Amino acid sequence: MSNGQGAFTVDLDDIQGLLAFGYGKLKEASFLLLDVRDATAAREWLSRCTVNNAVKLDSAPPTALHVALSCPGLRALGVPEDIVQGFSPEFVAGMSSDESRARRLGDVGNNDPAYWHWGNASEVVPHVVVLLYAVKDRLAAWQDKVLTECAAGFTLVKCLTTTDMDGHEAFGFRDGISEPRIDWDRERAAVDQELREYTNIACLGEFVLGYPNEYGEYTERPLLDAQRDPGGQLPRAEDEPDMADLGRNGSYLVLRQLRQDVGGFWQFVDRVADGDAAAREHLAEAMVGRTTEGDALIPTGERIPGEQDPRNTFTYRGDEEGLHCPIGAHIRRSNPRNTDLPPGANGFFSWAIRTLGFDADALANDHVSSTRFHRLMRRGREYGTRQTLSQALVAPPEPAHTDRTYDGTGLHFICLAANITRQFEFVQSAWLAGVRFDSLHGESDPLLGNRQPDPIGAPTDSFSIPVANGCDRRVTGLPQFITVIGGGYFFMPGIRALRFLSKVKP
Ligand code: HEM
Repeated sequence: MSNGQGAFTVDLDDIQGLLAFGYGKLKEASFLLLDVRDATAAREWLSRCTVNNAVKLDSAPPTALHVALSCPGLRALGVPEDIVQGFSPEFVAGMSSDESRARRLGDVGNNDPAYWHWGNASEVVPHVVVLLYAVKDRLAAWQDKVLTECAAGFTLVKCLTTTDMDGHEAFGFRDGISEPRIDWDRERAAVDQELREYTNIACLGEFVLGYPNEYGEYTERPLLDAQRDPGGQLPRAEDEPDMADLGRNGSYLVLRQLRQDVGGFWQFVDRVADGDAAAREHLAEAMVGRTTEGDALIPTGERIPGEQDPRNTFTYRGDEEGLHCPIGAHIRRSNPRNTDLPPGANGFFSWAIRTLGFDADALANDHVSSTRFHRLMRRGREYGTRQTLSQALVAPPEPAHTDRTYDGTGLHFICLAANITRQFEFVQSAWLAGVRFDSLHGESDPLLGNRQPDPIGAPTDSFSIPVANGCDRRVTGLPQFITVIGGGYFFMPGIRALRFLSKVKP
């Protein structure tokens, strides 16, 4: 696609379609976790499997297939180690590689990788994930066909099935509402400037490697000496035209299997609400930050560049205290919708005063890092059995987290990002698992928190709801509602890079 920047083009036909589409019409999906059993046969399948690209078609295809590889997967395919080391350190290390990463991601206590059902040590990190999407009643046959075709090269470690919950996640809230809009046309100036308004448009390089990111830079990725690609199969790097760009048109894919205790969630809010249906719903909505049907809790109608969905035309600028949407609500933590400058920095003088540091109060209020460097493209799908509210209210307790045979109901959380650390790990650790956020302390995300005491032993199991002209209402004793039971970091290559990887000489 050509764009406003002359010679630069965006190779939509080389980009896996998952970066551009959520496949909302393809209601069925499954994620196949595969291990390489025979490298030659595995490479052969990867060299010819049909992967959907990002070119927009007149109508949605009936099926779609995407492929992403883990670091152990690259090694199992025989990709040379110097190429492997060109990927980002966190991808090479893996999601569950060390205690420090696990602690930062909140993967301690019941979330400890030791209890995971998959992905919990280098020998059981799946080599490849194949993501299959299909229109209704087409998945089963499609999945069988793909498994048969790749059987010579791969063994199936686990098939992550999904359930169409009609646009809702398992607690019953509408999901898939707020997503960044990728600047495919590269119209937005990719320079590190101070943004004074929240925008939903994200530089292409935030999600697709090989293009400028929000800093105006090219995210680290493996660049190869051109002689390693004599046939010119790989695109050349935009920033280093003599190098073959193995990252270009690819992205990182983060997959986490999150088991949701739906009964535990609704029974807890019901208890706090003393069985009052309206109070119960109000509390649950305050924890999420939206109504169950997905409406914002605060007035909408702001002009947000790149945003068309009226449910997203808001920021938290007029609600600094969190009276409409609590500061700790899940959606406010995961996307504080702020700018590079503290709130209120509108006119030039105000901007100059604040930027020069004269307005200490305003700066003190701006504890939250600027959103535009921490956006995620979410592509998760629900799994398990959808429960109604009345079923959830009487559901028996879930089996313990140590029961590895029980996957229960939940979310296969998937997000795409060019920089796992700056995007996924930052949001997960600083904003969701972190017990200090904005003006809050001693509490983490009301949905995802692991409720483990903080390093000095203080509890983290509360949720604050600001009250006008009074002290916050503090709901305490939140149990853990969501448990991590698997996860991994994968590289979703551009299609030419996938073919290159299937041929590269060990
Ligand atoms: C089972 C676990 C989870 C549940 C039930 C859940 C639920 C929700 C719901 C109901 C919404 C509002 C609908 C929407 O805007 O699409 C939402 C938004 C969001 N969630 Fe989650 N979520 C979960 C896990 C996560 C994780 C692990 C992350 C990141 C590491 C995350 C990041 C986000 C983001 C970025 C938004 C959009 C916020 C915005 O732009 O306003 N979520 N989530």
